[in-house]
Amino acid sequence: MLDQLEQIEREALSSLEVVQDEESLQNWKVAHLGRSSPLMGTFDRLRDAPKDQRPLIGRRANEIKGVLEAAFEAREIVLRQVAVQQALESERLDITLPGRAMARGRLHPATQTMREIYAVFAEMGFQVYRSREVESDEYNFQLLNFPLHHPARDMQDSFYVEAESDRGDDPILMRTHTSPGQIHAMRENAALNPENPPPIRIILPGMCFRYEQVTARSEMQFNQIEGLAVGYNITLGDLKGTLGDFARRMFGENVRYRFRASHFPFTEPSAEMDIECFVCGGEGCPVCKRTGWLEILGCGMVHPVVLANGGYDPERYTGYAFGLGPERITMLRHRIEDIRSFWANDLRFLEQF
Ligand code: DAH
Repeated sequence: MLDQLEQIEREALSSLEVVQDEESLQNWKVAHLGRSSPLMGTFDRLRDAPKDQRPLIGRRANEIKGVLEAAFEAREIVLRQVAVQQALESERLDITLPGRAMARGRLHPATQTMREIYAVFAEMGFQVYRSREVESDEYNFQLLNFPLHHPARDMQDSFYVEAESDRGDDPILMRTHTSPGQIHAMRENAALNPENPPPIRIILPGMCFRYEQVTARSEMQFNQIEGLAVGYNITLGDLKGTLGDFARRMFGENVRYRFRASHFPFTEPSAEMDIECFVCGGEGCPVCKRTGWLEILGCGMVHPVVLANGGYDPERYTGYAFGLGPERITMLRHRIEDIRSFWANDLRFLEQF
């Protein structure tokens, strides 16, 4: 029986060596230390042994039981370490990998230019006045001194909101320019004190809409920033000084500019302002169409009829107004060649600003 015990031990230990996972380890335990294992069977068969050998066999069997239990625990620890090692390998983190770049939002290029323009005029004491995008014909045209059927209304083919208007000569349309805001601002202000309306110094930014063929140079929606100053003794000199200051703050101290006579129904006299082409420095290039100058805005002294329509007595008040296109300025600055890029929402374009 002693020989049998030695054999039991050898077999148990050698079969333990090939155990590689938790499940076969448990099976090994059942087979070699469990109730019906050969080792445990030895205890049952002790009484069959000669009496004088029983203590010896019993002790040896107990020793082997201790050895196998210790071997089991040692194997268990090894297997656990292997499992941890495998997990570390399979879930390995490469901490030297560069991080993923976060997609950051940014302001639309037109919005950036508009905010810059607000800041420039804010420094000169202008407030921002928001005005509606849906207008009546009366506000968009008639009160601005475009009479019904005036040829200038042809320039601004409009999006009409109602198919068949029961408003007769006053249909509802999407504003074609920010100028109707002038009337809203003057009327609102004049209502505060109809006898002596307070002076006004505002800019009116926002979207405008025209029913136009969309091309690289014209879009059917675009922003404008209107300016309006109304008060006592406001002169053409104030207009030129203010816009000259705007040009210097916007384009740099050394910018050269000029005013050209023009015509708008709501201003008299009217002008357009050009700045020297910053691409070629005035020498002539494709951007300025070889003229050396870039037109940036329209302006003029508010027409007496428009002042009166706003509730300001043209005998006592004068004012100036101007209107500029922020997309156009952005295009000139960044040499953007196609105005359609602004609202195409192509990230490859937008991410450049
Ligand atoms: N409303 C004009 C346009 O859309 C721009 C403009 C010109 C506005 C002269 C003005 C101005 O206030 O004085 O073309």
